[in-house]
Amino acid sequence: MKLRGNTCVVGLQWGDEAKGKITDLLSEQSDVVVRFLGGSNAGHTVVVGDRTFKLHLIPSGIVHEDVLCVIAGGVVLDPEVFEQELQNLCDGGVRFEGRLRISQTAHVVFPYHKLEDQLRETDSGKGKIGTTARGIGPCYCDKAGRTQAIRVGNLFHADAIEQQVRRIVDYKNRLLTAMYGSAGVPVEQMVAKARRYAEILRPFVCDTTALLQEAIADGRRLLFEGAQGTLLDIDHGTFPYVTSSNASACGVSAGAGVPAKVIDTIVGVAKAYTTRVGTGPFPSEQDNDIGNRIRERGHEYGTTTGRPRRCGWFDAFATRYSIKLGGVDKVALMLLDVLSGFQTLKICTGYRYKGQLLKSFPTDAEVMKDVEPVYEDHPGWAEEIDGVREFADLPANARSYVKRLETLLETPIAIVSVGPERTQTLFREELI
Ligand code: GDP
Ligand code: IMO
Ligand code: MG
Repeated sequence: MKLRGNTCVVGLQWGDEAKGKITDLLSEQSDVVVRFLGGSNAGHTVVVGDRTFKLHLIPSGIVHEDVLCVIAGGVVLDPEVFEQELQNLCDGGVRFEGRLRISQTAHVVFPYHKLEDQLRETDSGKGKIGTTARGIGPCYCDKAGRTQAIRVGNLFHADAIEQQVRRIVDYKNRLLTAMYGSAGVPVEQMVAKARRYAEILRPFVCDTTALLQEAIADGRRLLFEGAQGTLLDIDHGTFPYVTSSNASACGVSAGAGVPAKVIDTIVGVAKAYTTRVGTGPFPSEQDNDIGNRIRERGHEYGTTTGRPRRCGWFDAFATRYSIKLGGVDKVALMLLDVLSGFQTLKICTGYRYKGQLLKSFPTDAEVMKDVEPVYEDHPGWAEEIDGVREFADLPANARSYVKRLETLLETPIAIVSVGPERTQTLFREELI
């Protein structure tokens, strides 16, 4: 597949669509890969031969030796996870010296964010979101609230940061004690951590907005790596069962710090079925043998938390909403191999609510929980397809399944994936 200009990769479902694999493939033709949102709630898998990398913060482009990787200002960064990831890359034989940059305006996730995430979830009972407990929500809350926030750049103002950490931890501990009866976090330990975080991050920090502007002016090719998925977008997803940032294509410009008009192509990534982790509505969910079969065949257990993913049929109504919202140009359809062996596949084409067929996708969770999915049946195929290398060589029913989804999505499916490895990818060149 030949990239034209700057490209963005976004998830079209509730995350884990295999954005890591697509980003890795497209990195080959990119100069700079930019992660622009979320934090270590993400888990992106890249398989290179017998090596598997699970990346949470560092862009998936890092395994390509000549690609510059940028963690932009929209990210909430946990320095301890970042340090561990650097170690994993070293262990996997990946050299990153001189080609990894972190924005000074990214926000720092501290242990009190993770503690608050856990306590809030435990306290929420039935209303809980099922977060990854990585401190994402509390850190973005602090960002929006401003007075308790710490940016990466703050870590390097040695005197000011100590006062800042003391003030914030005092506030946090009072809050955590009053709200949850928690002892909070030790203040001296947080001061020491802030100093250590500065040392971990120092070699990588720069003004990434200026860096990206320069790259754009020099005609370098940029690839933006989305995290989470459009249906988890804080503004456009199934609120409140979402993450705390803009996970749709709408979030690229603000999160990365680039003009919206520099993005030439948006590639939307979707599984050939649907999964979701955590709570929240999922109309096409199959909490039964069908879902269990998908989970086992697709190894649908969280990359970050190991939680079993909820599994169900492809939801064309939801995915088309994501495509239209983000202005997606092409779709990459992943994990088609998982669907081998089903006699009949169902595709959700719409929702019925109070007896009426809905015209537009409802992001209101109260509506979503009561919708009835409308399905059409599609004949399945028996053959394993993970060894297929050309679209034309897929079983006829697999090809017609892809083409039917393409019609329902009103968007070309330019890439079909039949396994985690780079070679297990079918490019439909005529659509690229
Ligand atoms: P991401 O968060 O969107 O990057 O996706 P994850 O890495 O969390 O989950 C996708 C999983 O599917 C990973 O374990 C990938 O190695 C795997 N994977 C990617 N593409 C395929 C495929 O076409 N078939 C199968 N069976 N697995 C795939
Ligand atoms: P990648 O980038 C799947 C989900 C969580 C929870 C909700 C809020 O690997 O696709 P958070 O910790 O963000 O406050 O949790 O969002 N979630 C993801 N689900 N893939 C992800 O990332 C996710 N990131 C967050 O399970 O339901
Ligand atoms: Mg993932």
